[in-house]
Amino acid sequence: MIRLTELPAWKALKAHHREVAALSMRELFAADPGRFEKFSLRWDEFLFDYSKNRITEETLPLLFDLARQVGLGARIEAMFRGQRINTTEDRAVLHVALRHRGCRPIPVDGVDVMPKVRAVLDKMRTFSDAVRSGSWLGFTGKPITDVVNIGIGGSDLGPLMVCEALKHYAQPGLRVHFVSNVDATHLAETLKSLDPATTLFIVASKTFTTQETLTNAWSARDWLVAKLGDEAAVGRHFVALSTNGEAVSAFGIDPDNMFEFWDWVGGRYSLWSAIGLSIALAVGMDRFEELLDGAHAVDEHFRMAPMEENIPIIMALLGVWYVNFFGAESHAVLPYEQYLSRFPAYLQQGDMESNGKRVTLDGAVVDYATGPIIWGEPGTNGQHAFYQLIHQGTRLIPCDFIAGVNSHNPLGRHQPILLSNFLAQTEALMKGKNEAEARAELEASGLTPDEVEKLLPHKIFPGNRPTNSLLYRRLTPRTLGSLIAFYEHKIFVQGVIWNVNSFDQWGVELGKQLAKTILPELEGEKEPTGHDSSTQRLIEYCRAMTEG
Ligand code: F6P
Repeated sequence: MIRLTELPAWKALKAHHREVAALSMRELFAADPGRFEKFSLRWDEFLFDYSKNRITEETLPLLFDLARQVGLGARIEAMFRGQRINTTEDRAVLHVALRHRGCRPIPVDGVDVMPKVRAVLDKMRTFSDAVRSGSWLGFTGKPITDVVNIGIGGSDLGPLMVCEALKHYAQPGLRVHFVSNVDATHLAETLKSLDPATTLFIVASKTFTTQETLTNAWSARDWLVAKLGDEAAVGRHFVALSTNGEAVSAFGIDPDNMFEFWDWVGGRYSLWSAIGLSIALAVGMDRFEELLDGAHAVDEHFRMAPMEENIPIIMALLGVWYVNFFGAESHAVLPYEQYLSRFPAYLQQGDMESNGKRVTLDGAVVDYATGPIIWGEPGTNGQHAFYQLIHQGTRLIPCDFIAGVNSHNPLGRHQPILLSNFLAQTEALMKGKNEAEARAELEASGLTPDEVEKLLPHKIFPGNRPTNSLLYRRLTPRTLGSLIAFYEHKIFVQGVIWNVNSFDQWGVELGKQLAKTILPELEGEKEPTGHDSSTQRLIEYCRAMTEG
């Protein structure tokens, strides 16, 4: 197998980068009035504008060559056909089946998974309808008012992000809470305001072995049983979302109250599965299915659209362009939509757990950079926090600006103010402010020539900072489903280019193993030994300072 950096397209991109690095986007825009039309796409209700990137008309064709030379088309087909592309765990990767809306069978090992997928969706509908209508009663005969999803990682971030994003559609009187951190404060503070008689706990864990989730779930169970005074209450107040029926039964949850999913659903790709039950409870199953529809539409787009019109492929290749040729180390995701406040956090797991890898599928250590650091906050808050560094710092940080043109909360001038900030930031990042402009401004403000010279370097914005703009009409369940799927497929494409397994996460294991050794040492069951001097002293400090 030829190494990525030896591919003809890679070498061509290296050479092309030397030319493009010297170009200014401001000049490229000035020279070509058709630049926006060339570098933007309309799809469904989305506008994807990638014209404010450091690219020329030659760049994308070269990146498409790279995608072809790594065999992207075949890899996309392999995923959609249920092949075991997660090689280190020997699993298929079929989150696309969870939102598949057509009648095409999707086989894993020759067996169509769609009947099972539909059966779980039906079960989720029956259950969520019952809870939402008040016909599902708690142990003391009262309807449910509060749902607590106990999970972590993909069993938390996805449903949490979506519940936040779709709050506008949520049923009043049914509150959904999320407890993830094993820090007892998370659970304790959540329980403070809850009535056990009207609270439903969802224990969400693919493996049902995750320490944080099981610890929280047992503490929640103890709280419920203590408050309601009967073990039998668990049956009316606990449901499980898992692939591990045995462990769910061992916890004491009735198999009827278990919503199943399968090993071919990766944790960080699981919000479309039973893991989305909290979403269905919050906004109703019809809305949940609209979310699936939006994602399915993107799946079809991703699979069928030519690369030149393929939004996730272009997003991915632009990312590769910056990571591998410009040396960008991070990528900011900046939603100008308060409902998407948890979207960057969700994508941190989605992207970094997927492509934070250092060996190829064949186990060779890579000699190029892979997944970038993903970060971000909602606009306009970020503007008053970290945008300074994006505008005038020493690093190149490609940014995705995301916004709905219309708000669900059209209050006064808020929306045009919000959007004007979005648009101004992308313009400023691209154009910057050159020395002549900064000087003219300072002189016009009446400063002495000396003062002008002193301030001038601080007032210059280099510009040429790349941004994508992703706009949509309004944040609906369908739009959100599409938006998430764009990013899932972007991550997939980048994983294919970098030849890494985007679907395992061995990197989280070492810390888990060591924590198992340290726990009995902290609890005084064992003397700490075998650690480096730093860890040893830290453990000793914790033991010495432990109160009670
Ligand atoms: O952080 C590792 C991880 O395995 C994630 O991939 C996963 O989303 C999370 O833990 C939770 O796992 P589970 O759903 O099995 O509790």
